[in-house]
Amino acid sequence: MNRIDRYAVIGEHIAHSRSPQIHALFAQATGQAMQYGLIDVAAAGFRAAVREFFAAGGRGLNVTVPHKQAALELAAALTPRARRAGAVNTLACGPNGAAAELLGDNTDGAGLVRDLTVNLGQPLRGERVLLLGAGGAARGVIAPLLESGVASLTIHNRHAERAAELAREFADLGPVRAATADADAAHAAPYDLIINATSASLRGELPSLPATAVGRQSLCYDCAYGERDTVFVRWARDSGAARATMGLGMLVEQAAESFLVWRGVRPETAPVLAALRRSAER
Ligand code: ATR
Repeated sequence: MNRIDRYAVIGEHIAHSRSPQIHALFAQATGQAMQYGLIDVAAAGFRAAVREFFAAGGRGLNVTVPHKQAALELAAALTPRARRAGAVNTLACGPNGAAAELLGDNTDGAGLVRDLTVNLGQPLRGERVLLLGAGGAARGVIAPLLESGVASLTIHNRHAERAAELAREFADLGPVRAATADADAAHAAPYDLIINATSASLRGELPSLPATAVGRQSLCYDCAYGERDTVFVRWARDSGAARATMGLGMLVEQAAESFLVWRGVRPETAPVLAALRRSAER
C-alpha cells in the first residue's frame, strides 16, 4: 500500500485547476512528502466521493464550485471562520487520520485579503467595497473584509433577495448592506474596490453591475481566473478602472492557508505565484 499522504481538490469541471501544480510546488519547497490529485465530480456524487477518499486514507481536500456549502454539512467540526462563512473550502481528516471526524475550514477570505493587501498593496481600511455575488464564494470573503475595517461593503446580486439575506447575516460584523436602487443612487460615487465573487466568469458572462460602480480609482478583482482575461477583467479595463486583476493570487494564498492547516507549515507564496505567471505566459 502506498503510504504517502494524499490530498486533492474536489469540484465539478475542474480539469484545468492549477491547485495540483500549486501544492506540488509547496510540497517541494517545504520538503513535505505528499501527493495532490484532482477529483471531478457533480453535486450528486460529492458526498460519496469525499467518504471514499478519506476511507481510503486521504488526509485532506480542497473543495471548490459547486460543493462548498455541501462540504459544510459533511464536516463533523468547523473552524470559527468556516462556521461564520457558512461554506467550507478545506477538509482535513481528524486526529490519526480519522475519516469520521472531518474538520471543515474556509481559507478563501484569508487568501483574498492577503492577495489584496500584501501582493497588490491595496489597503482595505476605510475603503468602499462592492461585492458581486451571494453564493459560496461571496460568503467566504465577507467576514474577513469587514474585519479588515472597510468603510462600507455593498453586496450586489442578480437575485437581490440573496444579497439582502447575506447582509442581514453579517450585519453584526460591520457596515454591510445589500445594493438596492435607492442605496445605489445614494452612493453614486465609484467604489474603491469591486470584487467579482459570482460564478459568471466561469461561463464567460459578465454579472450585472450598478452603472456608477467603476471609476478611475477602482481596483477590480475577479475571484475567478482563466488562461485569458475574464470578461469581467476586460470590462473593467474598458471601463477605465485603475487596475483589473484575476484571482490567481487568491488561489495561491488560500492554498497556502490550507497547506498550513494540513501540514503545520505555511509555504512562501511569492515564488509559486511567479512560477504560475511564467507558465501562463508561455
Ligand atoms: P459559488 O459557490 O461559486 O458562489 P453559487 O452558490 O452557485 O456558487 O453562487 C453563484 C453566484 O454567482 C450567485 O451569486 C449567482 O447569482 P444568483 O444568486 O442570482 O443566481 C451568481 N451568478 C452566476 N452566474 C451569473 C451571471 N451570469 N450573472 C450574474 N450573476 C451570476
